[in-house]
Amino acid sequence: MNYQEILEHVYSKILPFAKEGKQADYIPALTKVDPDQFGICLHTIRGEMFTVGKAATRFSIQSISKVFALAMCLSMEGDNLWKRMGKEPSGTAFNSLIQLEEEKGVPRNPFINAGAIVMTDILLSQLRNPEREFISFVHALCGNDSVTYREEVAISERSQSYLNAAIANMLKYYRNIANDIERVLHFYFLMCSVEMSCRELSKAFLAFANHQQAFRYGKVSLTASQVKRMNAIMQTCGFYDEAGEFSYLVGLPGKSGVGGGIAAIYPMRYSVAVWSPRLNTKGNSVMGMKALELLTTETEESIF
Ligand code: DON
Repeated sequence: MNYQEILEHVYSKILPFAKEGKQADYIPALTKVDPDQFGICLHTIRGEMFTVGKAATRFSIQSISKVFALAMCLSMEGDNLWKRMGKEPSGTAFNSLIQLEEEKGVPRNPFINAGAIVMTDILLSQLRNPEREFISFVHALCGNDSVTYREEVAISERSQSYLNAAIANMLKYYRNIANDIERVLHFYFLMCSVEMSCRELSKAFLAFANHQQAFRYGKVSLTASQVKRMNAIMQTCGFYDEAGEFSYLVGLPGKSGVGGGIAAIYPMRYSVAVWSPRLNTKGNSVMGMKALELLTTETEESIF
């Protein structure tokens, strides 16, 4: 498969969509990023790497960090994690409160904000130095120790975090948060603020694509079965109220973030990360979705 040629062709075909959508502005710092950028990187499990555009430029990974948090929580908690959250698609926005109230403080899945805030609480309870251990795990996955939190983005998000604060308060009311809410939100925003490039993100996701190989990165280890199940949750819950559309158009397990990044995997074949800051109304990158749709169409490779 000539992935380089396919990625270049895909890029030429998505250019007409370059001005569609807009950046998330509820996190003020994100609006400082030039919206007219695009990068993509694909790593095969055989060790090849292909890139087009700004694949080495770092961006805010935002909700893609929830995949790393889930890996850590599953390795520490195993199936006990599911006592505190579900694994069903929500069909609602990533920051919706309605379902959480109806379901008495039990988030539908780990990838909506409510689920990720509960995972943050678990990491705080279980780890001696959660900030350091989380970023060390990301370093081990992507093989690059220079990846860091961007505190300025975390502080910017905190300054406008009325909805996430409401979610955290409701979780606390229903006793699904043990730690202090301020502490939980601080660490949650910090995880969202991690900056990575498509190259680094795609490399990090290779571990999920290659689920038949032992998953042991730093202190985090998962069985092949646990990795397979994480991929199942990415498939059903990775894109919130657009999970069905992403499955229909792209057909790969993946996770998006409001920084404009999307990481996806083809089990036992490749991982791919794409980034472009302009988002559709569901909070997913317009060019990123198009690029992945064309990638799986043009390669004619499908998990279905
Ligand atoms: O909590 C938030 O709203 C953001 N830090 C992350 C949301 C996000 O990336 C949703 N993804 N599409």
